[in-house]
Amino acid sequence: MSRVFSGIQPTSNLTLGNYLGAIKNWVGLKEGHESSLYCVVDLHALTVPQDPEKLRKQTRETAAAYFACGIDYTNSIVFHQSAVAGHSELSWLLGCLTPLGWLNRMTQFKDKAGKKKDQASLGLYGYPTLMAADILLYKATHVPVGDDQKQHVELARDIAGAFNARYEKEFFPLPEPQILGDATRVMSLRDGTNKMSKSDPSDYSRINLTDEDDVIALKIKKAKTDPESLPSELSGFEGRPEAKNLMTIYAALEGKELSQICTEFGGKPFSEFKPVLSDRIIESLSPVREKMKEFMKDQVELDNILKTGAEKAADIAMKNMHDVRDIMGLLQV
Ligand code: TYM
Repeated sequence: MSRVFSGIQPTSNLTLGNYLGAIKNWVGLKEGHESSLYCVVDLHALTVPQDPEKLRKQTRETAAAYFACGIDYTNSIVFHQSAVAGHSELSWLLGCLTPLGWLNRMTQFKDKAGKKKDQASLGLYGYPTLMAADILLYKATHVPVGDDQKQHVELARDIAGAFNARYEKEFFPLPEPQILGDATRVMSLRDGTNKMSKSDPSDYSRINLTDEDDVIALKIKKAKTDPESLPSELSGFEGRPEAKNLMTIYAALEGKELSQICTEFGGKPFSEFKPVLSDRIIESLSPVREKMKEFMKDQVELDNILKTGAEKAADIAMKNMHDVRDIMGLLQV
């Protein structure tokens, strides 16, 4: 049996990075798999402080983005994490067999907690066991994510292996990270060495899926570049992270190899490339933005879709949790 699982945190506006590194690659992935689940991981969002009203809105908006990008909720299971209690329960159970040494290696905790490690929450530290629980609750085999989440999926794989070894059963399949698409790590528009992120304080560092066309054009116009013209071959990207990032975004949207884009635009100035790039981004994202608005207009319908998704997810989760409790020796009466 093969099953796809992935998720996005509803922490704020989704970005072009989430689109190219994740959602765009989910569309059509169901083919060849028994089922696919796409979750809005609201419990993960709570690992840093959230405004309750905003979190609810962003949870709906993230689901709206999934649908607007082409995830078919009649074909895939789309739901929000907190609606299925098994995520929290399995996270605790898996946490009991995850060595601290494994968690200490996680680069995301180091990045997010920074120098204030002692003030970071237990939730932020234990985040990877919740992510492992998300995946293993459904015995998912394929996990399509951007490059930055690879380490977490590999940890989920190690935790699955630890469970199987401790209880001497091949119970959990070992999930595979799938790093798909041509832009697996979209970088900030202000600094090509940093990942494009929802949490960057500068809105000019990213393209949001909700940005209007003129805002997209302005952000690309202001995007950091360097004084040279565009490289005509891949070796020309050496020491030019911003040029590489902008051309990679264009290549990914066009569905072409980066080397092809170098051939097309090599030797041209950024002033000529940037308008072509912003037009291309607008062509892809403006229909997504408009469809998101449509979905957000009918909140009752959106909530109903999520409720139905949660019921289907809970059906799978309940059976697996029953087996996990049984294997671990918890009394079920
Ligand atoms: P999150 O919410 O940070 O990001 C969601 C997805 O978007 C990808 N992504 C990017 N890809 C390319 N370039 C970027 N700049 C960029 N920014 C984000 C991420 O790699 C991810 O695929 N821990 C996860 C959410 C999660 C999850 C899961 C994912 C929770 N449980 C189970 C898969 C399976 C996270 O914080 O992603």
